[in-house]
Amino acid sequence: MAIDLNALRAAVDAAYAEHHAAVGGANADYIPYLAKVPSELSGIAVVTVDGDIFAAGDKDYPFAIESISKVCTLALALEDVGPQAVQEKIGADPTGLPFNSVIALELHGDKPLSPLVNAGAMATTSVIKASSVEERWTRILDMQSRLAGAKLEMSHDVNQSEQSTNFHNRAIAWLLFSADAMYCDPMEACDVYTRQCSTLVSTVQLATMGATFAGRGVNPVTKESVLTASNTPFLLAEMTMEGMYGSSGDWAYTVGLPAKSGVGGGILAIVPGKMGIAAFSPPLDPVGNSVRGQLMVAAVAKAMGYNLYAA
Ligand code: DON
Repeated sequence: MAIDLNALRAAVDAAYAEHHAAVGGANADYIPYLAKVPSELSGIAVVTVDGDIFAAGDKDYPFAIESISKVCTLALALEDVGPQAVQEKIGADPTGLPFNSVIALELHGDKPLSPLVNAGAMATTSVIKASSVEERWTRILDMQSRLAGAKLEMSHDVNQSEQSTNFHNRAIAWLLFSADAMYCDPMEACDVYTRQCSTLVSTVQLATMGATFAGRGVNPVTKESVLTASNTPFLLAEMTMEGMYGSSGDWAYTVGLPAKSGVGGGILAIVPGKMGIAAFSPPLDPVGNSVRGQLMVAAVAKAMGYNLYAA
């Protein structure tokens, strides 16, 4: 069914007006750069599979993509090694534990389970085909850019801030290596994973990534076929399982759309076959999801009647 573009524009404007200044939450502070991003920033954008764009607020402000990068790297891994190898080497189940949990590894024989928690994301980075650290990094950055329809760049400030504080992730990378669940040098995987989190993206670019996932891999802005169409359902399934961390079940229950959040304050939800809905605002709830971002995305989905389980 065709999308009612007037209703969509009104839903975006209403979601922004109602929720862009919602109170609650706090910037992530375990990465020094993120603690300093102005907390009042707030933006929302939708991009449809036909390339229609509606946005409000700080829609062009470049922020750190953080964990949402895990979906882009998973997309490249699916292209490189295929869905079966991804499931066998990394897994496809939620951990039910925080995104950087070591206990989750202990409970599962030091295997990561999900590509969307830190352990699984570093393992995913390690299966990307590359013969050097720079090739691994540039292939991931190129995938992020092609999904966003824009030439994205890493922030050296964010990367520096993360590389000098990522000791917990380094420990996880070595634990994976000890369990034969790391497929390149573990410090290379951790380094490249940290860089991929440090890419800057705007809310409109994030929604364009979402529209590319929603459109079976075709970027509606550049018209490029970025992904193999049959691979995109695996991405959406993983986003449903683990995309909102400890709130993934609550999000599925209340909103009913695959989504992924990052500690930079970004959140991206997918309406399969229709659009990407993205929002950005730095204050996070205790699980790590943007407070205002969740409210704005959920409001658009509700106003438009988008819930996969109610379709
Ligand atoms: O690995 C980390 O700690 C960060 N670079 C990314 C984590 C993240 O975004 C988790 N999010 N909710």
